[in-house]
Amino acid sequence: MPELFSWQFATDPYPAYAWLREHAPVRWTTLPSGVGAWLVTRYADARQALADGRLSKNPVHHAGESLAKGRTGIPGERNADLMTHLLNIDPPDHTRLRRLVSKAFTPRTVAVFEPRVRELTDGFIDAFAGRGEADLIHEFAFPLPIHAICDLLGVPREDQGDFRDWAGMMVRHAVPGQGGGGTRGGVARAVKKMRAYLVELIHRKRGDLGDDLISGLIRASDHGEHLTENEAAAMAFILLFAGFETTVNLIGNGVHTLLAHPAQRAALQDSLAAGDGTLLETAVEELLRYDGPVEMATWRYATEPLEIGGRPVAAGDPVLVVLAAADRDPARFDTPDTIDLARRDNPHLGYGHGIHYCLGAPLARLEARTAFAALLTRLPDLRLAAEPDDLRWRGGLIMRGLRTLPVAFTPEA
Ligand code: HEM
Repeated sequence: MPELFSWQFATDPYPAYAWLREHAPVRWTTLPSGVGAWLVTRYADARQALADGRLSKNPVHHAGESLAKGRTGIPGERNADLMTHLLNIDPPDHTRLRRLVSKAFTPRTVAVFEPRVRELTDGFIDAFAGRGEADLIHEFAFPLPIHAICDLLGVPREDQGDFRDWAGMMVRHAVPGQGGGGTRGGVARAVKKMRAYLVELIHRKRGDLGDDLISGLIRASDHGEHLTENEAAAMAFILLFAGFETTVNLIGNGVHTLLAHPAQRAALQDSLAAGDGTLLETAVEELLRYDGPVEMATWRYATEPLEIGGRPVAAGDPVLVVLAAADRDPARFDTPDTIDLARRDNPHLGYGHGIHYCLGAPLARLEARTAFAALLTRLPDLRLAAEPDDLRWRGGLIMRGLRTLPVAFTPEA
């Protein structure tokens, strides 16, 4: 059995996932926190588990003590006021809250947002394009999503720097002891400040509604839908959390994969130069399948005894669906360990499946398309400025991504 959750595992978890899929596809595993959980690694089992209503998202269903007290891996887990968010609740509350936010978060809202994402993308590239080198995580992948989500929510530009700091604290927390200073206390303080700010912003906007998402939530709740202040703050918070580190890592992991596969990257550059966006669309999905940011879907707990892949799961047992393993399952994908940007048959689970399917997928796709296209077009000879073995990966339970991505390129004139 290969070692899980080690430094090598964070660097390349795929051999361990291949082993699990083949030898122990539904395996009881003790996690680094000491909590036990079932790891589900085959595509068919994973897809079924994600849509199984007997698996609850609410930590109160955990048979052990620790999760119910808050060890979900999501910042804010110990802050009861922030716990009532989409990723922690089941129907009927989930149905009501999701309907409400879906009204404010439509594909149209996101499409209207495209020029702003382009402006942000170009602005961040402008800042380093003349230098000939950059760290694409810190200078590009990290600031882009946080400013995009802040804009979408309606956080005024002058306050967005605070959000960037708070979000940075939370990400550092994702790998305890390896992240350069983030401590549990520091994270709790950042979460508290963010919540206080969001509550205050909701109050302020009530008197001056705009066309942003928070105003949309307030409008929806004023039109007879019930949304408490805690729920509104928790909603804004989970949008920030769910939409931030995921997108940082989709861009980081995606650029890393492109740089490591020159023929694929050249084909994408050629199609962009020809003004054809078709390959870019399939490429974003394939990069997500091949090395996506979410390794394991967030926790689920069995509310009654059930079977997954023939293994008995007891009521109260936690279940972690390993999306990254399912998306390399040869039983579902041809040559799963090969990156094929033109792959068409690609029903990957990178955004989850079922009622908790990623709400922000249209925004994530927009940001990824814009980011990859701008980088490859403006910096055509972009290359890695470190030995591949020297890159350091941040592996958590839920998320996996690069700490830094040093690149070099011919400076823009
Ligand atoms: C849910 C992935 C970007 C908001 C999810 C889930 C996954 C996921 C796997 C399901 C988790 C589960 O079932 O346990 C991703 C990836 C992204 C991304 C890979 C980027 C590449 C975003 C963005 C936003 C967002 C940009 C919003 C601004 C959400 C929300 C949920 C969610 C609110 C919970 C939905 C629910 O429970 O009904 N995401 N996400 N995500 N995502 Fe994303």
